Amino acid sequence: MPAELSGRTVIVTGGARGLGAATARAIVEGGGKVLITDVLEKEGAETAAALGEAARFLRHDVTCEADWQGAFATARTEFGPVHGLVNNAGIATGELLEHETVEHFRQVIEINLTGVFLGLRTAIPVLRENGGGSVVNISSAAGLTGLPRTAGYGASKWGVRGLTKIAAVELAEARIRVNSVHPGMTYTPMTSGLGIKPGDGGYPGTPMGRVGVPEEIAGAVTFLLSDAAAYMTGAELAVDGGWTAGPTVRALMGG
Ligand SMILES: NC(=O)c1ccc[n+]([C@@H]2O[C@H](COP(=O)([O-])OP(=O)(O)OC[C@H]3O[C@@H](n4cnc5c(N)ncnc54)[C@H](O)[C@@H]3O)[C@@H](O)[C@H]2O)c1
Repeated sequence: MPAELSGRTVIVTGGARGLGAATARAIVEGGGKVLITDVLEKEGAETAAALGEAARFLRHDVTCEADWQGAFATARTEFGPVHGLVNNAGIATGELLEHETVEHFRQVIEINLTGVFLGLRTAIPVLRENGGGSVVNISSAAGLTGLPRTAGYGASKWGVRGLTKIAAVELAEARIRVNSVHPGMTYTPMTSGLGIKPGDGGYPGTPMGRVGVPEEIAGAVTFLLSDAAAYMTGAELAVDGGWTAGPTVRALMGG
């Protein structure tokens, strides 16, 4: 069952494919309207077209302040007042810390963290004027733990987690809820080259023994966008098959 989002308009960044596309689909299935934004123009336009009249696409680089103004203006023109934002766009490449270059580190922080900051800052006056809203920031299980080869990525995702809490505290009086979602390994174009398969077993690092599928992350995101999460702000929701709950110590499991 998709979360109830009738009458809501939401912007989803990085929505051309992967988790963002699944989230856009879930928003429309819940009765909402969605502006999908991304730097991938062809894929973004195709994803929006497949969702019909309730979806539009706009080219939008999350590191560009002017693009952010354009995104909120377009959403308003196409669908009316904006109620929600999903800061989902991101990149994930990494090296061992000792081999990480400062250029790459800065690039990841710019997209994954500064992009979320710009999104929040642009959203605040809009949502305030509309009487409130919900922002969901996509962090990662790597924003809850220390994952190897993620110097820039992990730092950016810990930053997103912290920024979420600052925003939640500052914006509660304006009835703007801000929460973070922390996906574990999920099968998308970002991860499909890592030798994983969607859904099935063969991923022993996670207690559930499998990777996730985008719809499982989208369900958590749309829940946080909806009134079912009306008392939640500043929360961090791990959707990771138990990966951050603790190590699976087979020797202690018996059998
Ligand atoms: N897939 C996973 O296992 C996983 C796990 C944890 C967190 N995440 C996070 O979930 C989010 C979505 O990841 P995904 O797996 O769907 O990856 P993906 O690569 O399939 O999708 C990411 C999208 O972001 C877009 N993007 C990149 N830079 C951009 C920019 N500057 N401006 C606008 N759009 C930009 C890409 O074009 C792409 O369409 C990311 O923030 C990622 O870090 C993913």
